[in-house]
Amino acid sequence: MNPYEKLMARKRKWTPVQTSAGTCKAGAEEAIHRALALRHMELPVGDFITNALNNEVPALAREVLVSNVKDEENHDIALGYIANAYGVDPQAEKEALRLKTAWEAHPDHTITKALVAERAIFFVLLPFFRFNGDAGMRTVSADISRDEQIHVATNSLVHTELGYNISPSLDKLRKATINWVMQPLGINTTDKYLDKKFWLDSSDRLMYEAKPQNCPQLNPLECLPSSSIAMSTSPNMLEVLGMNSRGLIYALEESFPPTNPTPDDTMEKIMYRSGQRSVVEWVIKYMEEN
Ligand SMILES: [Fe+2]
Ligand SMILES: [Fe+2]
Repeated sequence: MNPYEKLMARKRKWTPVQTSAGTCKAGAEEAIHRALALRHMELPVGDFITNALNNEVPALAREVLVSNVKDEENHDIALGYIANAYGVDPQAEKEALRLKTAWEAHPDHTITKALVAERAIFFVLLPFFRFNGDAGMRTVSADISRDEQIHVATNSLVHTELGYNISPSLDKLRKATINWVMQPLGINTTDKYLDKKFWLDSSDRLMYEAKPQNCPQLNPLECLPSSSIAMSTSPNMLEVLGMNSRGLIYALEESFPPTNPTPDDTMEKIMYRSGQRSVVEWVIKYMEEN
């Protein structure tokens, strides 16, 4: 399988459902409204990819890119349900639409814009929902995070293959966007998840620390330590360990659950765990089918 087929094989279908509003962490409410208003970026990110499909993307990447666009429609619906339940802030909605227009108008390649938005904006907002949001936001955050790991890996690969660059002005727009979301938070608060600087640093780290071509995601087997999981799936090894296949599946699920990034994670760590998980999913599928 080529890397794009591997990414395609890792997809899990999920269906958004209408949730009811719960309680968000006190002090985070205004920033939550702003983060939620950036759901207006989901469809434009899908359009960025559609636009790239009309041009020179590698033929092998097409299927997964088309599927990624569908995912963005799903994200828009899921976050729309959250907005229905929790309510929106009209001012935040207006400002988010202005930011959306700025992203659409920016001259960098559309794949580059999607990559930066996903890597250094959405990978900040999703943990933000997870740590400060209500139950519905936490569930949607986990579902979208799984898709976004595949999107970032796809876009990183296409971006590198086509030799695109991230311009300083796109980085500025990235900073302006995340600054706007986190602006209502305080600084040096006792709860780090309510500290504006914590989230801004998280975005900077995701932006600068891992170069797209260094993402280990695309060859997950290489990410594993030498005592590879594949070894422990042979029947003899299972007998030696006194495990049946059901026990092994349980142990794999416990030890390597679906990746749900925290804001302390580097892109490299997210992709490392994502690679581990992809191997685990392969092993589980193999054991279920054989
Ligand atoms: Fe998305
Ligand atoms: Fe995405």
